[in-house]
Amino acid sequence: MELKTNSYATKDILSEITDGLSGFPKTLPYKLFYNNEGSDLFDQICNLKEYYLTRKEMEIMTGNIKEIADLLGEDITLIELGSGNSRKTRLLFDNLSGIKTYIPVDISDEYLHDSVASIKKDYPSLNVIPKCHDYTADLKLQIQEDLQQGRRIVFFPGSTIGNFTPFEARDFLFNLLNIIGSSGGILIGVDLKKKKELLQMAYNDNKGITAKFNLNILKRLNDEFCADFNLENFRHKALYNETEGRIEMYLISLTDQSVKLCNSTFSFKKNEKILTEYSYKYNVDEFKELLKDKLRLKRAWIDNEKMFSVQYFEPVK
Ligand code: AVI
Repeated sequence: MELKTNSYATKDILSEITDGLSGFPKTLPYKLFYNNEGSDLFDQICNLKEYYLTRKEMEIMTGNIKEIADLLGEDITLIELGSGNSRKTRLLFDNLSGIKTYIPVDISDEYLHDSVASIKKDYPSLNVIPKCHDYTADLKLQIQEDLQQGRRIVFFPGSTIGNFTPFEARDFLFNLLNIIGSSGGILIGVDLKKKKELLQMAYNDNKGITAKFNLNILKRLNDEFCADFNLENFRHKALYNETEGRIEMYLISLTDQSVKLCNSTFSFKKNEKILTEYSYKYNVDEFKELLKDKLRLKRAWIDNEKMFSVQYFEPVK
């Protein structure tokens, strides 16, 4: 089963959607999650008890911020991918005197606008250059004019790298070498493999926020692609595939039904699944091994319960 996660660069979104719904199994691109409403729901997910990822990442960064600051060094341009509300980045601003320029890149415009406004207010001497872009689509082209001298550090928190397949993740991170050059680094959050029960709870929360987040994709198709999905006819389900080491998120059709989208009609059988997201989990050694040809792991920090990791890589010299 192949979910194309970073193919925005080469295909337009409508054909990606219709191709995905024409395939077997049916798929939808995970980036459809992140309109303003979806980003808001994702923020709510980050505050859920079950969704330990955000909490643990913050805990790791707070507990090791001095060492992180030492490793990142001085005279930094910080490029944050999928910056969202930039909460973790504030921790870096508060503790690293060396960040001169901040380039947050996010696909959700309103969201980016609001967080940049509050960062500019709180850190008036910081040079902030927001970019409303899909960062998987030729990032270098989008930001090259804004790259300053000094060290370039890409900050990619939240284990968003898990939403790429391992092959895509490797490709994507190797491509960042074009941005960070030989003297930069990548600070990245990576969710760790753990018990199936904990993982499935994190993606099937009791309040149903993740379900809303998942169903929001269908709402977007109705609002933006003249589709007529009845959201009540689909159910959210996330499963951990231990063999592949990934969460698989699905929307399951509750009945036999046909749905229109633009000029096409798609049929669903009862219990047929639409795959909407992968979220890969790695052991620290697995992730290090994946990247070893071009990126060297300088330091990995993990929390006491071994739930999450923050890792710092530099180019292999
Ligand atoms: C953004 N990304 C890292 C989240 C994840 O955990 O894979 C998206 C998410 N999907 C469901 N809950 C959160």
